[in-house]
Amino acid sequence: TNQNILFYISAYLIGSIPFGLILAKFFAGVDVKAAGSGSIGATNVLRVVKETNPSLAKKLGAATVILDALKGTLVLLLAMSMGASDSTLWGIAVLSVLGHCYSIYLGLEGGKGVATGLGVYIALIPIPTIIGAVVWIICAKVLKISSLSSLLGLTAVIVVASFLNDGLNVGSNIPMYIIAFIIYYKHIPNIIRVIKGEEKKVV
Ligand code: G3P
Repeated sequence: TNQNILFYISAYLIGSIPFGLILAKFFAGVDVKAAGSGSIGATNVLRVVKETNPSLAKKLGAATVILDALKGTLVLLLAMSMGASDSTLWGIAVLSVLGHCYSIYLGLEGGKGVATGLGVYIALIPIPTIIGAVVWIICAKVLKISSLSSLLGLTAVIVVASFLNDGLNVGSNIPMYIIAFIIYYKHIPNIIRVIKGEEKKVV
């Protein structure tokens, strides 16, 4: 329907907003695309801003996670309140993450989808997502590597969701896996660095 198309377009355009890039440029005067991992996500905001201002880096990193997550969650909550179907909701979720990872404002470059993935998964499969977030926190504390912790947390989400079938109605496990695939795919350079033992610590 026309309403669904509007939801999909908004999800992609809002998902495309590079909050990390904007916050780091506006408040710290740095270009995260030109420094660190070159990613626009919270990890790279923290990493790059920390070089000049550690306390500001934590604030901007936290703000980036929250805003990048919310840009997925809010469109979903709006669509839910308007009675959108499960398949529409999952379509919105995929497009939010695609927007973040392949931003229309950045020539289809972007982030790696972890925070936006968190924002959409929490709305649609809350219990697996909370478990995945706990896995992420434990891994980040122990391993101190953001990318690896993200991938382990993500794996926990989809494994738990597959077993619990929590919130997964007919056909909706495929979009859940598509989102996970996009995030894994965007982390290939990180995975190669982890295997070589060259991946940077959280910062
Ligand atoms: O959320 C992104 C994180 O998993 C990796 O970021 O900048 O270390 O490539 P980065």
